[in-house]
Amino acid sequence: MTEKVKPTLPNAQTVTAVKHWTDRLFSFRVTRPQSLRFRSGEFVMIGLMGDNGKPLLRAYSIASPNWDEELEFYSIKVPDGPLTSKLQHLEVGDEIILRPKPVGTLVHDALLPGKRVYFFATGTGFAPFSSLLRDPETYEKFDEVIIAHTCREVGELEYGRQIVEEVRNHEFLGEIVEGKLKYYPTTTREESPKMGRVTDLMTSGEFFTDQDLPPLDPATDRAMICGSMGLNKDISAILEEAGLREGANSEPREFVVEKAFVG
Ligand code: A2P
Repeated sequence: MTEKVKPTLPNAQTVTAVKHWTDRLFSFRVTRPQSLRFRSGEFVMIGLMGDNGKPLLRAYSIASPNWDEELEFYSIKVPDGPLTSKLQHLEVGDEIILRPKPVGTLVHDALLPGKRVYFFATGTGFAPFSSLLRDPETYEKFDEVIIAHTCREVGELEYGRQIVEEVRNHEFLGEIVEGKLKYYPTTTREESPKMGRVTDLMTSGEFFTDQDLPPLDPATDRAMICGSMGLNKDISAILEEAGLREGANSEPREFVVEKAFVG
């Protein structure tokens, strides 16, 4: 039985590129419906037709910026995951289902104006920041943008590292981000230049001294968090301890949280 979807799917989009980063991680790009508008950092439901003939959909952050002609997604491969076990076999020309109703809290509208924004990610939680880091609005709103990414192994940082490099070398963005963008990758289970959970590095102060940053200040600092439940909880606690409050679309404050989705 083929796992490929039939071209008669409602809301079908065509895969234009697939890249495997590690045994556990891959990214892919699909065509973008002309009518789809979204705010960088939002997610949509995407998926495939299940064996029972019903759509099998999961929430995926859009990893591409809102000016991109295509949509990019960054995914884990869960060996027994109902969706990702199939999705990881996608090839160029295949179709996926995309429900064009973007939502989410990791958006600029949910933060009060500030001087500095911190993006905290673990694993595939980098995806919404891949969008926000490529959105000029991020650099119009903030003087300093710090992206911290913690993964188990060095190879798992590669997608994010290349996005940061792309932004810095981009013909338009490069100039805008010059001197504004700080990148703080760490690993926890494989040797790398910076080891440890970002939470521990923040608590010890190393995170701030390494990057020449002042301690957290609710008057100037904003943050977005996207990772495992543990990361979300632990960073939230550190931010709240420093006086930052969690916000939402309906009530912008100093930080917002979204869990990294796994399907
Ligand atoms: P660790 O190896 O110490 O568990 P996972 O692959 O399990 O989603 O984890 C991705 C990365 O997030 C790992 O490097 C992991 O570190 C780290 N991590 C997990 N929980 C937390 C947490 N509560 N705070 C900070 N980092 C975390």
